[in-house]
Amino acid sequence: MKRRCPASAGRTPARTSARRKSHRSTSSILRVDVVTLFPEMFEPVLSASIVGRARRAGLLDLRLVNPRDFVHDRHRTVDDRPFGGGAGMILMAEPVYQAVRRARGRGGKVVYLSPQGRRLDQKLARELSRERHLVLVCGHYEGVDQRVLDRAVDLELSIGDYVLTGGELPAMTVVDAVTRLLPGVLQKQDAAELESFTGPLLDFPQYTRPRVWRGEAVPPVLLTGDHGRIGAWRRQAQLRATRAKRPDLLLKRRVPDIDLLDFRSTDAKLKQVNARHRLSGTIRTTNRSVI
Ligand SMILES: C[S@@+](CC[C@H](N)C(=O)[O-])C[C@H]1O[C@@H](n2cnc3c(N)ncnc32)[C@H](O)[C@@H]1O
Repeated sequence: MKRRCPASAGRTPARTSARRKSHRSTSSILRVDVVTLFPEMFEPVLSASIVGRARRAGLLDLRLVNPRDFVHDRHRTVDDRPFGGGAGMILMAEPVYQAVRRARGRGGKVVYLSPQGRRLDQKLARELSRERHLVLVCGHYEGVDQRVLDRAVDLELSIGDYVLTGGELPAMTVVDAVTRLLPGVLQKQDAAELESFTGPLLDFPQYTRPRVWRGEAVPPVLLTGDHGRIGAWRRQAQLRATRAKRPDLLLKRRVPDIDLLDFRSTDAKLKQVNARHRLSGTIRTTNRSVI
């Protein structure tokens, strides 16, 4: 359908439409249509917590479109056996095409959830959060007839290198990751700016009351009220956490205050990454050129 979808393709059935309570202009609402054979899976998850609140506030307009609504035989058949043989069933092109056409309407980025797609990360979530209309297409069984994917899909997106039974959980993952980045969804927008994968470092550890829990006190600096010292402690903690849990991140992006970390210590994971990236010498010297 890519750009071949006629403007008159019609409007999406409003199975779950957002109640518009907010004062934001309608142009800044993100509309997401999910094309799925299992619409009943979505409501329990996406009406709860922050995503549910975003929908009720009118920041996210979520709609569900079922390819079965576009077939008219007695059994409402949407799948068939693969040409060439093989296990499993394949979603037929036409019902999926009709559903996507209906969902897309006059515009919208069509994303097919697929283990073969571009891997979802924070950067991609942020890119998608800038769209005004997403159409998320969920495959099922052994997948979807390739012809409709070639014709209608703008982006294939994977949530990781493993295979699930359907695209519904990946679609919910995308909706969650994208919704929390929409302006006005998180109470403090800082929350999305400061956490893991927004910058080159993982988030710092967090603590709440009580001050002492089963004999363990929170780090005393956090109780000082001295924002300078707290900031410095948190930055150190981020560097340490990143080195310990995801040293690969330190090799991907520039970290200006990397020297705060003592890279002369022999860290097994870091050595591994060093080897993987075929970097010779000490990480201390290679860091300067790589990150
Ligand atoms: C059993 S899978 C089909 C896998 C396909 N035969 C393959 O090997 O690429 C059925 C559907 O689940 C969804 N799916 C499974 N794993 C996924 C993943 N890691 N990311 C996104 N979608 C996934 C896709 O929509 C896919 O069409």
